[in-house]
Amino acid sequence: MRLFLHTATLLGSALLVAADTTTTINAKSNYGSWDGWGTSLAWWAKAFGTQTALADIFFTRNTVSFNGYTLPGLGLNIIRYNAGASSSNADPNGDKMIVSPNIKASRQIDAYWVDWTSTSPNTSSWIWNVDANQRNMMSLAVARGANLVELFSNSPVWWMCYNLNPSGSTSGSSDNLESWNYDQHAIYLANIAQYAQQHWGITFTSVEAFNEPSATYWVGPTGTQEGCHFDVSTMSTVIGYLRNELNSRGLSNIIVSASDEETYDLATSTLNGLTSTAVSQIARVNVHGYQYGGGRRDTLYSAVTAKGKKLWNSEYGESDATGASLASNLLLDFVWLHPTAWVYWQVLDVSGWGLITANNDAKTVGAPSQKYFVLAQFTRHIRPGMRILDAGASNAVAAYDASARKLVIVAVNTAAAQYLNFDLSGFSTPSTNGSLVQRWATQIGSGGMQYQTFNDTFMSGTKFWSRFDQNVIMSFEVSNVVV
Ligand SMILES: *[C@@H]1O[C@H](CO)[C@@H](O)[C@H](O)[C@H]1NC(C)=O
Ligand SMILES: *[C@@H]1O[C@H](CO)[C@@H](O)[C@H](O)[C@H]1NC(C)=O
Ligand SMILES: *[C@@H]1O[C@H](CO)[C@@H](O)[C@H](O)[C@H]1NC(C)=O
Repeated sequence: MRLFLHTATLLGSALLVAADTTTTINAKSNYGSWDGWGTSLAWWAKAFGTQTALADIFFTRNTVSFNGYTLPGLGLNIIRYNAGASSSNADPNGDKMIVSPNIKASRQIDAYWVDWTSTSPNTSSWIWNVDANQRNMMSLAVARGANLVELFSNSPVWWMCYNLNPSGSTSGSSDNLESWNYDQHAIYLANIAQYAQQHWGITFTSVEAFNEPSATYWVGPTGTQEGCHFDVSTMSTVIGYLRNELNSRGLSNIIVSASDEETYDLATSTLNGLTSTAVSQIARVNVHGYQYGGGRRDTLYSAVTAKGKKLWNSEYGESDATGASLASNLLLDFVWLHPTAWVYWQVLDVSGWGLITANNDAKTVGAPSQKYFVLAQFTRHIRPGMRILDAGASNAVAAYDASARKLVIVAVNTAAAQYLNFDLSGFSTPSTNGSLVQRWATQIGSGGMQYQTFNDTFMSGTKFWSRFDQNVIMSFEVSNVVV
């Protein structure tokens, strides 16, 4: 199902520029208050967690010089801190972690709970000084304004797993968390949340115990990262333990999110498969965007709203450095999924995946991709607290800042060059005739415009328009708009 733009070619006077396509912003619509944009920390923050310039790039909207580049800061305000599952310590039986031969050291995140002898965080079973770099980047982000911090797990700590391998069970399709350790997994996360509040000055917003848990690709012997399958019935049980362990530590204000499934369709079936008790214990559904152009985003949105939960796209990534896939999938999310937050997986990563190319093992940082600037078109303008509107078209999103009386529109043209015409007649005050509509533009692809700004667009009555070359994304800010 796709929406098609209503084509209205104006056979205009010489003064009126013929607008090839018109979209009417639905001023009465409301898809919720935007929570923000984010990134998971994990691997890139383990590698680069002490670099303050990177924190400036990702967590401020300043103009930042780095490695010879001048970048518009992305202003991300959400971070996901990865509770590690790995450690080199032996447990009291002399057991040691089984390490997949394919996992890179840069993808092993150190666990705080190193053996099972004590659940008390101030005993020698807990080592709180590991994972310093990831923690440091978390602090740098929070100091720059990141205000929503999620604690998430890719796998239970190795010694909680049947095969002692935090890359997954031997088959990949069976649970790896030992049934007698369900509560231990919850205790691990709850103790980190409590310790973070008491010692790091970090209050987590939410805790997520799973990562793509229905997948069958978390195969320990061949795995390349930490990962773990959970049956849906196990998820329900662990969610209950997690809620109780948080509550018993006085952390009832920290919400439980679930289940970070890989696809929209799996997220729907998992949500529908959780016990009603487990559903009552989660406050937000997290889903990953790895179904890209496929899947029923609309079905998931309906299922989540029927249960009264929030919905985040908590992880998205792909290898398309041009930004074309990102723009396309993000617009599909805005039109059909209606998340209230959107989180890129690894902002620094290999070429294609990274917004900035980096090598976590060699610890080198390279060039920003065009995708970086495409994402900036969204993150710098659609800001936390704005109300997400229906932009009336599949190639545009709109957001409204009530206190600043500002309307933001982000639109993409993948067709041949054309004028896009934006009709604000649905607003009680659609700005002022003749007033400036500042715009920013990025060429999707490679090179060309990279978040360039122009003051050449003005309201004409209740409309404004702009000429889009093919594969251009633009952001517009319209002032003095009242819904
Ligand atoms: C250890 O933590 C417990 C709570 O988990 C607390 O009651 C106890 O006083 C702590 N002991 C020390 C030595 O800090
Ligand atoms: C465009 O106008 C805005 C608002 O008046 C101003 O802050 C900005 O510097 C101008 N930019 C350019 C490129 O003229
Ligand atoms: C907007 O302003 C222009 C220039 O002053 C004027 O020609 C036009 O009639 C105005 N349009 C409306 C709808 O007021």
